[in-house]
Amino acid sequence: MVNSGKKASVATVIGNKALKKRFGRLTIQFTGEAAGRFLQVMPGQFVQISLSEAALPNPERISSDLADSAQRQILLRRPFSFCDVTVDRPNCVQVEVLYCVLGPATLRITTLSKGDKISIIGPLGNGFSIPPGKKYALLVAGGMGAPPLRHLATFIRANKPKMRLFAFAGAKSLDDLPFTVEGPKSESPVIPEFSGAGTRLHIATDDGSAGFCGLVTQYMEKWLDESKIPPEDIIVFSCGPEPMLAEVARLSEKYGIDCQVSMERMMACGIGLCQSCAVECKGGTKGETVYKLCCKDGPVFNGREVVFESR
Ligand SMILES: Cc1cc2nc3c(=O)[nH]c(=O)nc-3n(C[C@H](O)[C@H](O)[C@H](O)COP(=O)(O)OP(=O)(O)OC[C@H]3O[C@@H](n4cnc5c(N)ncnc54)[C@H](O)[C@@H]3O)c2cc1C
Ligand code: FES
Repeated sequence: MVNSGKKASVATVIGNKALKKRFGRLTIQFTGEAAGRFLQVMPGQFVQISLSEAALPNPERISSDLADSAQRQILLRRPFSFCDVTVDRPNCVQVEVLYCVLGPATLRITTLSKGDKISIIGPLGNGFSIPPGKKYALLVAGGMGAPPLRHLATFIRANKPKMRLFAFAGAKSLDDLPFTVEGPKSESPVIPEFSGAGTRLHIATDDGSAGFCGLVTQYMEKWLDESKIPPEDIIVFSCGPEPMLAEVARLSEKYGIDCQVSMERMMACGIGLCQSCAVECKGGTKGETVYKLCCKDGPVFNGREVVFESR
């Protein structure tokens, strides 16, 4: 996928809904030339959003743990992936971003409302790629890693309808899953947005408040142990905290399964200029490691090439 979008586009906010806890869903719309840049977005690509001109919420609506950081100036754009992209007409594209409020920029997202204009650079990065010949996709998400995998599920459903999808979504607790969960929480909880994309969903929470009690990677390993599917037919796509990605990559290697991981780094520019987003990778000609850029060469990498700090 080409990085066709290094020019800033103006998007119009058409919705901003608070979800549970610190999560929200921002819906923005691109029209005209800007819409053209988003017609062929790949799941896993991202945008850099400028939020410096958005207002902070009223002080009483800022939780005490964010009161100090809320006052920080935000000079840099912030990276966000897509949860969904809908082409209404060739010159009108809607993009949904799920956000988790963590600091000054994400606090400002909460005050955006219908009709507001925001400046966005993107789509950026490479996104996930679906190798030919694979029959089963395992989507393994930790916390805020779920939105781009939800986008991937919809994308695969539309473009590879014969591929079977199994999703694993993990979080510390039910409240930390960035989607609404329905159904009996302990037995077979459902995230309608994943089921809607024809995906068999497996939820894991560290405290057992929904689904499997334990780490999502333990649930994945249990599933792989019980699965009779030939490993060469499976592809794993994963997004979430780095220790989880390291374990997903290790398990995939152990079971002989191809794996793509979406890495997260602090990103100053998002377009390959500042070198702030290095990811250590294997692959030097003399066996040495090389540094690739998360924003430009990634954020999606082959799980086998990344040198994970936590391994
Ligand atoms: C490719 C990519 C896609 C992303 N997609 C989403 C998304 O869809 N939804 C979403 O809510 N967030 C996403 N993020 C993370 C999001 O960019 C940060 O949460 C946001 O920049 C925080 O800004 P802030 O000013 O609110 O908080 P800050 O004060 O800047 O950060 C709050 C805390 O989060 C940590 N943090 C911030 N950004 C990163 C990062 N990039 N990597 C590791 N730690 C970080 C900081 O160290 C700090 O502890 C994505 C990040 C990347 C790199
Ligand atoms: S964020 Fe600047 S080079 Fe990647």
